[in-house]
Amino acid sequence: MARKKVSYTHKLARTLALLADPGLLLVSSKRSGESNVMTIGWATVGIIWGKPIFVVMVRPSRYTYEFIEDSGVFTVNVPTMEMRDWVMVCGTQSGRELDKFKAYNVPTEQAKHVPSIVIAECPMVYECQVVHTNDVIPENLDPSIEASAYGGKDYHRLYYGEILGAYASEAF
Ligand SMILES: Cc1cc2nc3c(=O)[nH]c(=O)nc-3n(C[C@H](O)[C@H](O)[C@H](O)COP(=O)(O)O)c2cc1C
Repeated sequence: MARKKVSYTHKLARTLALLADPGLLLVSSKRSGESNVMTIGWATVGIIWGKPIFVVMVRPSRYTYEFIEDSGVFTVNVPTMEMRDWVMVCGTQSGRELDKFKAYNVPTEQAKHVPSIVIAECPMVYECQVVHTNDVIPENLDPSIEASAYGGKDYHRLYYGEILGAYASEAF
């Protein structure tokens, strides 16, 4: 899809609304070139250290975790409504069992700023380089959130990705 370089703030409210429903698509690649995709519903965008940052939260049990740990890069891809069913697949099936790109014939393109890929049909994409990570600290977390989100295990790692490039289609 043809996209132009835009500010990371371009249609940010739309991106955040889609984060809540149906979710955004987090892609990461290993240094070997292999890529994986998963759906994310929890993330934030803002300025930290004077840089535009996309913070994503990935549980260590996710196959995606291995990919971001390996390369330190990811892309966030905003889906179209037509992709809704595939977004659900990406949020319920692991790349350990299924190549989600190949199984559904989803075309991808090389990212411009990081050694990874973006999803061709997505109208807006963010290319990110990890500049910081930290893990959720159970003792510091509100107990009601600990109980509802974790139940004592699989605490997210937060990846702070500097947004090196954001690209949007005319229509987005
Ligand atoms: C709407 C939705 C939002 C999700 N958000 C997240 C998230 O923010 N972080 C996370 O670790 N998992 C999240 N998940 C779960 C993963 O997408 C799911 O476990 C996926 O199968 C992991 O794929 P992988 O093992 O190939 O990495 C979400 C799932 C759905 C359906």
